[in-house]
Amino acid sequence: MSNNNNPTTFIIFGASGDLTQRKLIPALFNSYCKGRLPEPFNIVGFARRPWDDAQFRQMLQEGMQELASDTYNAEKWTPFAQNITYAKGDLSTQEDYLALKKHLDEIEQGAGDRLYYLATSPSFFVPIVENLGVAGMVEQSAGWRRIVVEKPFGHDLASAKALNKEIQAIFAEDQIYRIDHYLGKETAQNILYFRFANTIFEPVWNRNYVDNVQITVTENVDVGRRAGYYDQAGVVRDMFQNHLMQLLSLVAMEPPASFKAESVRNEKAKLFQAIRPLLLNQTVRAQYDGYLQAEGVAENSPTPTYAAMELYIDNWRWQGVPFYLRSGKGLKDKNTEIVIEFKQPPHLMFDDIQDEDFTSNILSLCIQPDEGIHLKLEAKVPDSHKTQPVDMEFHYRSSFKGNSLPDAYERLLLDAVRGDASLFTRADGIEAAWGLMDPVITGWENNAEAPPMAVYQPGSWGPAEAEALLARSGRVWRHACSHPEE
Ligand code: BG6
Repeated sequence: MSNNNNPTTFIIFGASGDLTQRKLIPALFNSYCKGRLPEPFNIVGFARRPWDDAQFRQMLQEGMQELASDTYNAEKWTPFAQNITYAKGDLSTQEDYLALKKHLDEIEQGAGDRLYYLATSPSFFVPIVENLGVAGMVEQSAGWRRIVVEKPFGHDLASAKALNKEIQAIFAEDQIYRIDHYLGKETAQNILYFRFANTIFEPVWNRNYVDNVQITVTENVDVGRRAGYYDQAGVVRDMFQNHLMQLLSLVAMEPPASFKAESVRNEKAKLFQAIRPLLLNQTVRAQYDGYLQAEGVAENSPTPTYAAMELYIDNWRWQGVPFYLRSGKGLKDKNTEIVIEFKQPPHLMFDDIQDEDFTSNILSLCIQPDEGIHLKLEAKVPDSHKTQPVDMEFHYRSSFKGNSLPDAYERLLLDAVRGDASLFTRADGIEAAWGLMDPVITGWENNAEAPPMAVYQPGSWGPAEAEALLARSGRVWRHACSHPEE
């Protein structure tokens, strides 16, 4: 974990917020129960509420019991919670950082490694970083100092660049960990293992064999109580710029020479550079019926809750292969799935099979909730001359029975402590993704060629326009992952 015996201290800015209760503390607690948290360790919450240590611990414990009851364990909680303390402070007040520093020096009793976690609203990212700098809490003579920055990282390309610049003025790039929790999902990580720990897929992973690639991230939840944030963001900022672009990079990038952060991130950067600017007439934007009436949504809001896009990658591997991306809220089901649809055989020699009866081979990487892989093959229907698609399936839940899938934050927090940034986004990666999405967002706002806002019914699979986007080239959206209950 650490190259020394320094205590590791997790400092959570915005400790009274939802993310701390819902994700960070359960992740740290689970790692502790598995014996993976570096010892000794401290968790320090920093927020404005007038709490003491006991009140903060109680709040976290109640959160665990309510939100992570499946992994809560009263016996282990007690020793774990002894490492938790609270420092009351205002994110914009310099003296409060000096008090925090004193608190940290006291609990660490000498040298200590520190992971600063920004679990706050993005408007505080810069003030926190600047205050840490002024308080002398960034220099690394008494242990390493790293910072984890939550999303959203910027609101557009210009603000993302400005944020990178401001953070990099105080922290070195190798101290900065920009988190995208999709990269911490086991099944997202498995994409690289699937591609590069096997020999049989990579030879066909290109324009010679692949007809098209589809990335689907649907959610059945609507904007709920997050309308205030969401109405300012919309689906492209909330899901495409980060999660979908990251999934795309894992599927489409060239093999890195190693699994080290710089190798992986260099390949991602190359991939993003090769993506052709998107055309507005190859995009779809939509709102679910009822969105405009949701509390916190502006009157006549132009914010899309759904988008679909067709994009192309200008390199040898992918020239001419369409990549289709779609994501939205208020849809029929939660499903994250990557489909690689292969080309049809060059010549069908079976007299009884017409082209239209024939389904191409489809490989589905099922990210969630049916974590696994499906491969659709054509098989001869017994006692007939016809074929029918059949499914070869791998499910994590049956192949790895004893191993539960850890939450993404568990892996990412431990990686940050280990100094492994391969699952975190580098400054150029974030900016490149914004560079691709920004023109779509602004084009939708003020370009006459923008597609009109479509409407879809809550509980459906999205607007007809998204079907039409693929139908133009005779294609359809594919869905092969099953639901865990099926
Ligand atoms: C977040 C978005 O980054 O990802 C949310 O802000 C979205 O709007 C969430 O619901 C989806 O994450 P997951 O892990 O539930 O698929």
